[in-house]
Amino acid sequence: MAGGVVLVSSSMVQPVNSNQSGRTKIHLTPFDLSLLQFDYPQRGLLFPKPDPDFNLISRLKTSLSLALDIYFPFAGRLVKTENLEDDTASFYIDCDGSGARFLHAEANSVSVSDLLQPDGSVPDFAKHFFPADDFKSCDGVTVPLLVVQVTEMKDGVFISYCYNHVVADGVSMWDFLHTWSKICSTGSGFNPKPLVLKGWFLEGIDYPIHIPVSETERPPPSRELSSVPTTKEWIFHFTKENISNLKSKANSEVASNDQGISSLQAVSAHMWRSIIRHSGVSREQKTHCKLVVDVRQRVNPPLEKDCFGNMVYLAPATTTVEELLDRGLGWAALKIRNLVSSQTSENCKFFAEEWVRNVNNLRAGIGSKVDGGTIVIASSPRFEVYNKDFGWGKPIAIRAGPSNSISGKLTLFQGISEGSIDVQANLWSDVIVKLLADVEFLEHVTVA
Ligand SMILES: *[C@@H]1O[C@H](CO)[C@@H](O)[C@H](O)[C@H]1NC(C)=O
Ligand SMILES: *[C@@H]1O[C@H](CO)[C@@H](O)[C@H](O)[C@H]1NC(C)=O
Repeated sequence: MAGGVVLVSSSMVQPVNSNQSGRTKIHLTPFDLSLLQFDYPQRGLLFPKPDPDFNLISRLKTSLSLALDIYFPFAGRLVKTENLEDDTASFYIDCDGSGARFLHAEANSVSVSDLLQPDGSVPDFAKHFFPADDFKSCDGVTVPLLVVQVTEMKDGVFISYCYNHVVADGVSMWDFLHTWSKICSTGSGFNPKPLVLKGWFLEGIDYPIHIPVSETERPPPSRELSSVPTTKEWIFHFTKENISNLKSKANSEVASNDQGISSLQAVSAHMWRSIIRHSGVSREQKTHCKLVVDVRQRVNPPLEKDCFGNMVYLAPATTTVEELLDRGLGWAALKIRNLVSSQTSENCKFFAEEWVRNVNNLRAGIGSKVDGGTIVIASSPRFEVYNKDFGWGKPIAIRAGPSNSISGKLTLFQGISEGSIDVQANLWSDVIVKLLADVEFLEHVTVA
């Protein structure tokens, strides 16, 4: 490790109950398999430093072992089987209790204020505070499905993790984190609900799904081209006041029967328009705002709201640069709202069936369809961050790690003050520079 981060120990944490033989196989849906070449998402929470008597590492490990007994899929492995008859492969999750990796690290010279830069920039060394930035979902046949890294800093602790997106989406990951933190802070006083697995819910699609072998292998490492411009990460903060003003502006620009644009839609539309304004993409070209669609309550019959697994896919709101810029904030926000509300059970089924019929281009990964004209909105400010208290204090901040970094990736988090939103933007450096000088953009944002 580097960036002042020194690895102290690495170990496997298994579910407390070592007999996992009653657990079922988890079969993978097109929603899962479409992420085979996706990097493990990385998130990290910054905390104040606990009292030395807290026994930080041993308590985190003990509670993780209990939490993994409930959230047992994270302790499993991906299994790949070859179908010789048609030169394809299939996958499932074997909940075999292998365990999650736990890294203990120290960065004694790094303080909280080094990590939280006053101008909102994310320092380059922050990437060393996250585990395993080169794991892809398909690697889950040999590497753990969950890796945790606890880095003790000069005056704080950073608890970060990465996980295989085939196993869980944000909803399930945050449920897991909530349970782990509760067990850690209350010991045996916490009585978690048993896990509800999703089961097979796609009528008309046979499992296991067959995927051409070539699509299931890791692409050769891309040769870094020195001419490729670099991306930078920046945190843009929207206060409650900023959001409410943005929301009123968006709603005032649309017909009265279209009003009801949400905070999230208004913030997303403002980011979309502002980034595209500086993207250098010509006016007649298409631009996309890709959003995560949760299928749990959309499929018919609906799944349980908090059932465990990965039940999301990305859907794009699409228009031309010209329309996006000329038609205004309200119009763009409405475009986003209409995309989300139009995702029906039929859309979900269509996505799944199309995917099975035509498995290709997996290896190009998420980067393939992203150019200067696309933004991707990951995570959600609806996930509660600041109640994740492991027993010595609430988080101070949240960050996404460097995996899946492409220019145009925005990771949205709940802000620390109630009703606020933080946007962690990964953008070409020149786009960041232009945004930071854009009066129209800055009017509605508080740069930290
Ligand atoms: C493990 O659990 C399974 C099913 O729950 C049970 O049938 C089996 O006897 C257990 N094995 C041991 C060694 O306890
Ligand atoms: C954004 O929020 C900051 C801090 O609350 C405030 O100073 C600024 O006036 C706000 N701008 C708008 C347009 O809401």
